[in-house]
Amino acid sequence: MKLIPRPAEPGEFLPENYFCRLSPGELFTQEAPLEVDLGSGDGSFALAMARQFPDRNFLAVERLLGRVRKTCKRATEAGLPNLRVLRLEARYTVEWLLPHASVSRLHLLFPDPWPKARHHRRRLINAEFLCALSKVLVPGGDFLFKTDHEGYFAWATDELALSEHLHFISWGDESGELSEYPRTDFEAQWLAEGRFVHKLRAQNLAG
Ligand SMILES: C[S@@+](CC[C@H](N)C(=O)[O-])C[C@H]1O[C@@H](n2cnc3c(N)ncnc32)[C@H](O)[C@@H]1O
Repeated sequence: MKLIPRPAEPGEFLPENYFCRLSPGELFTQEAPLEVDLGSGDGSFALAMARQFPDRNFLAVERLLGRVRKTCKRATEAGLPNLRVLRLEARYTVEWLLPHASVSRLHLLFPDPWPKARHHRRRLINAEFLCALSKVLVPGGDFLFKTDHEGYFAWATDELALSEHLHFISWGDESGELSEYPRTDFEAQWLAEGRFVHKLRAQNLAG
């Protein structure tokens, strides 16, 4: 049986081959630093970033088709050629698809915390993921992580402390380079409910 591929949404990136690593330049025509928003939801964060930084490229990665379609529609309406959306599983994207040393910043914002102990092994952040991440980040590239879940934050901190290549750095103060960092939909919701948001930033020293 021959599978007929789903046509791409405007602004969606459909890899020609899901079984080999992309080559740099395949994603965007404009050569610019690449930022990845992993688990981008309906894309509000990636859209705000793409608007704010037209001289950077943004790849939003999300597995749910409805959210992918919504992000593509909003990116097209806003006329943002520097934002593309990839419908794919987050771990697979980092481990097998993104070109090595291609990503200047990877944002992982409010991923599923898998709170039950028997589900902890499903958490995205683990040694294998961090090893793959250090390969796709450029030397000096950033990993930015936010969660409202204290347990997942502690878990992520412990896993990162064991990483050979990723080293904690300060998120910076209100006037720093991340002062314009947009709030995601989930963040706005959590803050409105009075929850605390944990954040960490790590820099890739591999290279
Ligand atoms: C809690 S939401 C956060 C969305 C967005 N980052 C925000 O802060 O508003 C998590 C998102 O990650 C997506 N997601 C969860 N697991 C994923 C996976 N393994 N691969 C890709 N996307 C995933 C979900 O569909 C959901 O849209």
